[in-house]
Amino acid sequence: MHALVTGGGGFLGRYIVEQLAARGDRLRCFGRGRYPALEALGVEVVRGDITDAAAVKAACAGIDGVFHVAALPGIGMDWRPYEQVNLRGTENVLRGCHAHGVSRLVYTSSPSVVFNGRDQHGVDETAPYDFAWMERHRAHYSRSKALAEQAVLAASDASLKTCALRPHLIWGPRDNHLIPRLIARARSGRLRRVGDGANLVDVVYVENAAAAHLQAADALAVPDSPVAGRAYFLSQGEPVNCWEWIDQILALADLPPVRKRISLRAARAIGAACEIVYAALGLKQEPPMTRFLAEQLARSHWFDVSAARRDFGYEPRISTAEGMQRLAAWLRSTKNGPRVCPPQPRPS
Ligand SMILES: NC(=O)c1ccc[n+]([C@@H]2O[C@H](COP(=O)([O-])OP(=O)(O)OC[C@H]3O[C@@H](n4cnc5c(N)ncnc54)[C@H](OP(=O)(O)O)[C@@H]3O)[C@@H](O)[C@H]2O)c1
Repeated sequence: MHALVTGGGGFLGRYIVEQLAARGDRLRCFGRGRYPALEALGVEVVRGDITDAAAVKAACAGIDGVFHVAALPGIGMDWRPYEQVNLRGTENVLRGCHAHGVSRLVYTSSPSVVFNGRDQHGVDETAPYDFAWMERHRAHYSRSKALAEQAVLAASDASLKTCALRPHLIWGPRDNHLIPRLIARARSGRLRRVGDGANLVDVVYVENAAAAHLQAADALAVPDSPVAGRAYFLSQGEPVNCWEWIDQILALADLPPVRKRISLRAARAIGAACEIVYAALGLKQEPPMTRFLAEQLARSHWFDVSAARRDFGYEPRISTAEGMQRLAAWLRSTKNGPRVCPPQPRPS
């Protein structure tokens, strides 16, 4: 297929691009930066902002399948950039697909679209969105991803088949978010275990998450595919203890386990105070704690991936142990430690 990958220069997007290139698909990427590594793979790189409807539409010309991976992540307190990039940007992608007769769209969503501050043990895709909770807790990222997911799934019809994938805590070599942040926080002594430390969470090795995107796109091409119009959780197939897993990652970076602790109640109170201060002062950077983050760090949230296995043959082929070895090798190869993704410019 001739595929367009938005955000193809990012952490997950680049693995999707590499896997598509390896099997010989023609590729175009859309993003704001320059991506020499993608150009070296023979990928056509189109520079543009996902909030620019005309640029997105032009990028969809001649494309069979779109992987819409680009998004603004994080826990910023201003709704506007999340609305512009994650929701309006996705609407631009849908319009581009319709304008150019694209037949398949795989949207990278997030399990946080159904997070509601409660423990989630093995929940499946019947879990509802809780927009009221997300709004009350200023969970702008989750809310924007949920609204975008809804729009993508509602758009699925005979001419454009769509689906949404919800990978949880993607990790692996070249991670520019989670692992560098954990390491930086641990090095500065600012990492604290939130809650009782017993919470289980799902994680997914990046190459497994990328492979699922290709499998879902291929499944969408099959007539009467059950994948069309559906969302799917993705994980390693079994949850890990959140804090033991963090300690394992820190050990790979020669750092001691997390020793400082804070109760969920205290973290929630600090988060609420941070939110008020950051919102009142109009601060653009992310607060160190929010109520959403406190709940995410202390609660269990893991998911049933049997629908992905059943409908498009998802299998986490790279085990967590193997992934950890690959991550360790990458951490050893990065001289001054992994780099955090720089703050993204705000849309105009
Ligand atoms: N990492 C996780 O644990 C996780 C978990 C669940 C879901 N996800 C989802 O997975 C997807 C990929 O995330 P990631 O972890 O790979 O993050 P990432 O490395 O930050 O990738 C995000 C990509 O989006 C692009 N992008 C952001 N704003 C843009 C804009 N205004 N216009 C055009 N492109 C823009 C970025 O490209 P430029 O900055 O170069 O333009 C970047 O390539 C996202 O949809 C995210 O919501 C991630």
